[in-house]
Amino acid sequence: LIIPVLFRLKYFILWVMSVISLDSEYLKLEQVLQAASMDNKTIILTTLNAAWSSPGSVIDLFIDSFRHGVRTSSLLKHLVIIAFDRKAYRRCTEIHTYCYALVTGNVDFSQEKRFLTAGYLEMMWKRLDFLRLVLEKGYSFIFSDADIMWFRNPFPYFYPDGDLQVACDHYVGNATDLRNIANGGFNYVKSNNQSIEFYKFWYSSRLRYPGYHDQDVLNFIKHDPYIMDIGLTIKFLSTTYFGGICEPSKDLNEVCTMHANCCIGLQSKLHDLRIIMEDWRDYMSMPPSLKTSGAFSWRVPQNCSLSLLNQ
Ligand SMILES: *[C@@H]1O[C@H](CO)[C@@H](O)[C@H](O)[C@H]1NC(C)=O
Ligand SMILES: *[C@@H]1O[C@H](CO)[C@@H](O)[C@H](O)[C@H]1NC(C)=O
Ligand SMILES: *[C@@H]1O[C@H](CO)[C@@H](O)[C@H](O)[C@H]1NC(C)=O
Ligand SMILES: *[C@@H]1O[C@H](CO)[C@@H](O)[C@H](O)[C@H]1NC(C)=O
Repeated sequence: LIIPVLFRLKYFILWVMSVISLDSEYLKLEQVLQAASMDNKTIILTTLNAAWSSPGSVIDLFIDSFRHGVRTSSLLKHLVIIAFDRKAYRRCTEIHTYCYALVTGNVDFSQEKRFLTAGYLEMMWKRLDFLRLVLEKGYSFIFSDADIMWFRNPFPYFYPDGDLQVACDHYVGNATDLRNIANGGFNYVKSNNQSIEFYKFWYSSRLRYPGYHDQDVLNFIKHDPYIMDIGLTIKFLSTTYFGGICEPSKDLNEVCTMHANCCIGLQSKLHDLRIIMEDWRDYMSMPPSLKTSGAFSWRVPQNCSLSLLNQ
């Protein structure tokens, strides 16, 4: 008789421990968000897995871009890096102040995720659900993929009246036109009822579009009348300021961010990101008269490909 009782006791203790550790995770998230937050409860978020966390890899270029941008280095104190695995978390703690480990179940997010594999999709959806949680905690955020170089402070370029403001692979020249092709890798989201409801809707829409990633699903559901019902205002950000390899920000005097989108494979991405950083440094070291002449332009794409829309 004593054996089954002990057995149950063991499971009871394990259950209590798991509840406590979930609670402490939740507390820790709150602490990290609070510490990194601007006065107006706004933070900057990116996600990181092992493949992007090695020295000299994507995360180093990302942080480096803030240090070499125009008035962007002070934004680093508002950046929280969300690590998907142990290696990414450890590396984050070596290079940055605010790190959070997003505890995941049985999926290993540490390898390079090729576009549209099951693991990649799971990682993207997990991220979206996490962002909903951040909104629910009352924090507005800029979410930025780590393969986006920050060259200028983006805040002055946002619209005062957009709940969700999202960068584009292709921008048609009008911030409210739904024909803009959104890229979910960079967005500014205000925490309010509309955005929280929208993130729930977006996440639940994955069931209606199996096999697609969050960004494709965003481009499907942007037409959905439910968005009007929610009262969510979407603004698409111009590639003049928020560019990428798909559609570069032509003028370096105006660029805020450059994304290694339209690019498949980590080696190609790293190659072109390094070129983008070199170009930026060359631009920054030019005398003002040359800068404003507007004659300087990007040398990308090289190994990334313009023909690959998305990512
Ligand atoms: C929050 O604060 C930042 C930094 O001062 C500012 O740039 C941004 O515009 C503010 N956001 C809002 C919604 O007021
Ligand atoms: C921008 O697009 C919206 C929606 O398609 C349209 O109502 C509006 O007239 C457009 N604005 C301009 C300046 O073209
Ligand atoms: C959301 O809506 C409820 C009820 O309509 C309101 O009390 C609350 O203040 C709203 N919250 C936010 C963040 O706007
Ligand atoms: C980039 O492309 C060049 C020319 O096609 C090739 O020689 C080089 O190995 C590529 N580099 C990477 C890192 O993919």
